[in-house]
Amino acid sequence: MNTAIVLAAGKGKRMNEEINKQFLMLLDKPIIVHTLQAFHSCDKIDEIILVTAPDEIEYFKSEILCRYNLGKVKKLVGGGAERQQSAYNGIMAVSQDSDIVLLHDGARPFVTHQIIIDCINGAKQFGAASAGMPCKDTIKLVNEQNLVQSTPPRQMLWITQTPQCFKKELIIEAHKAAIEKRIIATDDAGLVELLGSNVLMVRAAYENIKITTPEDLPLAEAFATKIDLDLQKLT
Ligand code: CTP
Ligand code: MG
Repeated sequence: MNTAIVLAAGKGKRMNEEINKQFLMLLDKPIIVHTLQAFHSCDKIDEIILVTAPDEIEYFKSEILCRYNLGKVKKLVGGGAERQQSAYNGIMAVSQDSDIVLLHDGARPFVTHQIIIDCINGAKQFGAASAGMPCKDTIKLVNEQNLVQSTPPRQMLWITQTPQCFKKELIIEAHKAAIEKRIIATDDAGLVELLGSNVLMVRAAYENIKITTPEDLPLAEAFATKIDLDLQKLT
């Protein structure tokens, strides 16, 4: 059984809007609904766990889950101050029967079934798999004064996205080790790397952006419009 954990317990501060960025409308529905529907409509996902701020649980129940018929969302869990804590709370709520766990940013609405399936297959084979894409730009490693220390070869660099998918026992072990050693990583796969385990990078899509700052909004609108038009052509 495969469980998707959707992380939606952040505050969306960098978006600088009155409402949490995940509730901003993208065409006809809130950003978070696009994200949840992508997992909900995927055959390979048996259960969704939604991690939200404790004081947004009721709003999610009444305004999001019922309204958009998201019956696969089996549990709503309160998140923590850091993304890593929210992820841990979600992982602790995964049902006994699940052996594969995907963690996904609620603010990443353009995830596709193909990306989800490729990440699941990668995790089954290697234990851990992360969506990502090859870097388009040259990356510089700098010191505190912004002086360049080195230029890693671009063909070896990938940007990291979500979903990140894991065998359940591996991601539990990685998070428990991080708590014990007081380590905070910026992604879940990073915690698995610290155990010395393999993580496969899965080629996802450049459209699979995380909506983070105001300039991401027109980009997101353009992607959503294109996806809508492509769907209309198919039907
Ligand atoms: N997230 C979470 N719990 C936290 C922090 C973040 O569940 N304590 C989730 C967010 O809801 C988001 C995803 O992790 O969907 C990626 O985080 P980010 O883009 O940083 O979103 P926010 O933390 O909400 O935004 P900001 O950092 O600008 O406040
Ligand atoms: Mg954040």
